[in-house]
Amino acid sequence: MEYPGFSSNNFRSVDMRDLILVLNDFSYGELKFFIDYSLFSAKISGILSKKLNLNDGGKNYIKGLMIGFGYIFLSKFLDINDFLILFENKDTQEAALFISHVFYTSIMKMESLENESEILYILKENNLNKSYFELETINILTVSHELSKMYVFDKYLKREAYEKTLENIIDYTRKFNIDNEVKIALLDIFRDPWEMSIIFSDDPYPELFIDREIALLRGEELMNAMKLLTFLVDYRSRFTRKHSFRVSNIARDIGKEILGEYEGFKLMISGLLHDIGKIYVPLKILEKPGFFNDFERKIMNTHSVRTYLMLKKINGLNEFAEVSLLHHEKLDGSGYPHRYKSNEIPMEVRILTFADILSALTEERPYKNPYTIKEAMSILYQETKEGKLDTIVYKKVDNMVKNGYRIIDEDIIESLLKEEKYNIIKEKINILKEKIY
Ligand SMILES: [Fe+2]
Ligand SMILES: [Fe+2]
Repeated sequence: MEYPGFSSNNFRSVDMRDLILVLNDFSYGELKFFIDYSLFSAKISGILSKKLNLNDGGKNYIKGLMIGFGYIFLSKFLDINDFLILFENKDTQEAALFISHVFYTSIMKMESLENESEILYILKENNLNKSYFELETINILTVSHELSKMYVFDKYLKREAYEKTLENIIDYTRKFNIDNEVKIALLDIFRDPWEMSIIFSDDPYPELFIDREIALLRGEELMNAMKLLTFLVDYRSRFTRKHSFRVSNIARDIGKEILGEYEGFKLMISGLLHDIGKIYVPLKILEKPGFFNDFERKIMNTHSVRTYLMLKKINGLNEFAEVSLLHHEKLDGSGYPHRYKSNEIPMEVRILTFADILSALTEERPYKNPYTIKEAMSILYQETKEGKLDTIVYKKVDNMVKNGYRIIDEDIIESLLKEEKYNIIKEKINILKEKIY
C-alpha cells in the first residue's frame, strides 16, 4: 500500500518509547496477562543484553516484547485459565510462535532492528527452548520467555506472592540449561535492588532500554506499529474485528474526495486509532446482545476520551488525539463527550464520524445483522436530514456509492492463515479450541 506523504520527511516520526507506554495501558481486562508477559520478557531481555555489553539492550528489549505477541492472539480463542493450563502445551506454544511470526513479519517488522535473524529463527522454525549456545541473543530471548512464563503463571494462576515468585525464578535460573555467562548475568540481576525493582514494576521502562537512535519510527514502520495497536483492541471481539481498518479505509476515501490526498491520508490514521480507548470497555459490554442500560452506556461513552488520553501520550500523534476525541459528536449537539455543535466540529471529524457510522452499520453486531450499504445509506440520510451529520459528506458518499463504491476489509491474520503453508498450524489452533470447548 502507498502512504503518500509518509515516505519522506514531510510526515512526523514517533518515538517507539511513547508507543510502548500506550501498549502498557492495554494491560487491562483479558489482555492484562499477555501484556504483562510480553513486557516482563522485554525487560529481562533488555537488562540482560545491557549487562552482557551487547550494546543493543533496546533491540533485544523489542525482540523480547515481540516473542509473546502470538499468545495475545490466542487469547481470542482461550479464556485466561484454560490458556494458562495449556501454556506449556507444545501445540499451544507452536501456534503462538507461529502467530508471533505472522505478527512480526506482517505488522511489526522493523528494519531498524537489523540483525533480525535471531527472532525469525526462533519464531519461524519454532526453535524457542532449543539451546543454541553460540548465539547469545537466542539465549537471552529463550531465558526471558521462560522466566516470563513462570512469572505470569505464578501471578495469575497460582496467585503466588511476589517474593515466592522471585524465589522460584532464581531457583529455576540456577538449574536452567543456558550459556553460563548469561546465567551469571541473570543471577546478578536478581541480586541488584535496582534491576529487580525495574523488572517487577508495572512500568515498562522503555526509556531505559531503547535509545533515541532506534526509537524513532516513521513511514511503514510507524504505520505497522499503529496497526498493531488497532489490531490488539479490535481483535478482542469478533464484532469489532475489522472495524477500525474499515473506518480507516472509508475515512481515507471520503477525505481524499473532499479535502484532498494528504488530508485523506491523515484520516486513514485517525480511522485506525479512533477507537483504541475501547480497550477499557469490558468485553461483556462490547458483546452484549440488545440495548445497553444506563451504566453500560456510560462506560461505552468513555471510549473516545480514553482514546484521546492514550494518544496524547504519543508525541507526534496529538492531532489524531483531538480528531478521535470528537468522533461521537453530532452537529445538533446530541453527541458526546462535549456536546459540541456544528461550528465546533471540523470537517475532518465530520468525515470520520460518517465513516465510523457507515462502517458500524454494515458490520455485524450482537444485536443486529449487517446492513447492506444501501440500507446503511438510507439510515445515514435520515440522520443527515435530522441535522446530526454533514450534508456535504452525505452527498459525496451517496455519489461514491452510486458509482459502485465498495468497502474493503482488511483482516491481516485471517488472510495470512489462508496461505497453504500455514494450514498445519491452523489445524493445531482448531484442535486446541476443540479440546477446550
Ligand atoms: Fe467510537
Ligand atoms: Fe468506531
